[in-house]
This record gives sequence, C-alpha cells and structure tokens, in this order.
Amino acid sequence: MRLVVNPNQGTPGLVVLPASGFRRAKAAIMAWPGYAPTPLADLPDIALEAGVAAVRYKDESGRFGLGSFKALGGGYAVERLVAAACGALPVFTTATDGNHGRAVAWGARRFGARCVVFVHDGVSQGRVDAIAAYGAEIRREGETYDDSVRACTETAAREGWQVVSDTSWPGYTAVPIDVMQGYRLMADEAADAWEGAPPTHVFIQAGVGGVAAAVSVQMRARFTPHPALVVVEPERAACLLESCLAGRKVGVGGGLQTVMAGLACGEPSLLAWQELERAASAFMAIPDAVVAPAMRRLAGLGIVAGESGVAGLAALLLAAGDAVALRALGLEAESRVLLFGTEGATDAAVYAGMVG
Ligand SMILES: Cc1ncc(COP(=O)(O)O)c(C=O)c1O
Repeated sequence: MRLVVNPNQGTPGLVVLPASGFRRAKAAIMAWPGYAPTPLADLPDIALEAGVAAVRYKDESGRFGLGSFKALGGGYAVERLVAAACGALPVFTTATDGNHGRAVAWGARRFGARCVVFVHDGVSQGRVDAIAAYGAEIRREGETYDDSVRACTETAAREGWQVVSDTSWPGYTAVPIDVMQGYRLMADEAADAWEGAPPTHVFIQAGVGGVAAAVSVQMRARFTPHPALVVVEPERAACLLESCLAGRKVGVGGGLQTVMAGLACGEPSLLAWQELERAASAFMAIPDAVVAPAMRRLAGLGIVAGESGVAGLAALLLAAGDAVALRALGLEAESRVLLFGTEGATDAAVYAGMVG
C-alpha cells in the first residue's frame, strides 16, 4: 500500500457544493418511489480485528435496486435536466466504468428519454448487460474510462446530446455538481443513523473523487469535530494520491487495470479535487490482492459487497496491520470508523468468481 498524508488539510478554499443544492437534491430523491435509507451495519468483529472501538458500514447494495449508490447521482442529475428541458427531451449520454452508466440509463428510462452509454474495453459484459437492461444503447470505445469520457463528449458535441457525467472539467461543472449533491444523501443518511460519539475516521473509495468529495462535504456539515477523511484508490489508478504528491491535479496513465472496476479512473474530477485537496486527511493506494479477502470477510458477516465497494474496508485492515500507517492516520483504540460499502454484487459472475 501507499499512504500520503495531506499537507494541505484544513486550508480554506472554494465551496464546491452549496448547502441549498443539497437541500433540493435531498427533497427530490426522498420523494422518488421506493426511496428508503440504506442500512448502517455495526461490525464489532472487524473493529476488534482493526484494534478500534467501532466500525460501521453503510451498505449501498440495495439502493433503488441498482446495486450501488450511483442512482443518487446520475438519476438525480437526469431529473434536473428533464425539469430544465424546453420541449422534446434531449438524448442523455455518459461514459462509465459500470455503475454510473446504469444510474443514468435508469434515470433516463424513468422519463422515457433515449440514453447512450459509452463503456471501455475493461467493462465486464455483466455490467454492460445491466446498463442495456434499462434500455440504453451501448457504445464500446477506448481502453480506459478516460478514453470513453472523451469519446462520449466528442460524440455529444457532434450530435447535440446532453452529457451526464460524474466527472467534471473546466467549463463542465453544473451537471456533476448535481450528481455530487445527490451522493451527499448517502453520507447524510449515515450521519442520521450514527449513534453515540461521532466517527473519528471515514474511509471512502475514489475513482474520479466525486463521491469522496460529497462525503467529505457532508461529514463536515454533520459532525464536529470533523472526522479524518481517508481517500482510497487502487494502486494502478491512484490519480488523487498522485495529485496530492504533486500539489496540483494530475492524471495517471497506463491501462489502469484493477479488479476495483468502478475505481479505474486516471483523471480526477476538477470539482472533487477542489474539495479533497484541502479537506482529505490522507490518500491511500491499495493493491488488488486485498480486495477478494475483504469481500469474503463481509460475505461471512452476511453482507454482499462488490470489488469497488470494499476498498475502504480493505484499506482499514491494511492500515491496522502497519504501525507507521496507524500513527500517520491517528487510528487508535478509541477510534470510530465509518465505511461506505458503495456497491453490492453489481456483476454477479465476477462476485461469484471472487467470493465463491
Ligand atoms: C461502487 C463504486 N464505488 C466508488 C466509486 C467512485 O466514485 P467516484 O468516481 O465519484 O470517485 C464508483 C464509481 O463508479 C463506484 O462504482
């Protein structure tokens, strides 16, 4: 593993996600049919193993039947765009590692809109089929998530389609802000369900960093003192950790191969970086080898967690076995840790192959 403590934590900066936008997102999503908060599980055995006082796990596997928290973001952003549309609905399009595409396809189907989803070569057939099941047209372009983002934006510009991206870049921020405001509801529910003294640490996995930034903002809004935020990435796609080291937003190249399919992103989201560069306590990059054991550990407790969903737990267990990491993160016997299980078995065949 690699661990970088953020030297800029606590530096004042931009308000990336205004409170009013979250209030609007929360009211809208809570009015959707089938809305219910996802459970927050207490994991005392894992707390014992990690040598901390409490570990709680927010289990997103049941979110709107989509298997991940992503419905909160993509689904909400589509709803906002539909409300703003004059006349005919636009064609919605996005690039995805799997879960965001499913959320946008689901959101578009709610309104009977056409949806085109770009996937790269590494997206499993099971995940592609799940997106197509919501009526979206699939286009396979490029070798990585970042390639498919480019293919999506170029095609959208040519065809006049509406991009619903979970990542942001200069000049494209309004839609990803809505996506991230939707994600905040997951963290808000966790804060509602949290009992006793507030969490001291939050481990949250990152691809482009959108959900980590949303969790960061909401944890600050709900808990004082603010919990330490540990951002976890796959070691071959650690663009936020590298950005922290570089002191500015940088991308990482290569094939980004990792079993943590939802986290295989080489370019941080601009908005996410603006939040995390000053709010994250530390960035961790973890190897693939720790993922299947973490999935099996949760399966043994009756929790179904996918490859990307367990990254935070895997990072906690790695840190717990390393005296330097424990010290650097300030993890001790009194610590209370909040984990976000961001997905369930979003590809049943991959899950069965890893868990048995
Ligand atoms: C299950 C899961 N967890 C975490 C993430 C990371 O989200 P973000 O790209 O906003 O960092 C993703 C992204 O697709 C995901 O699918």
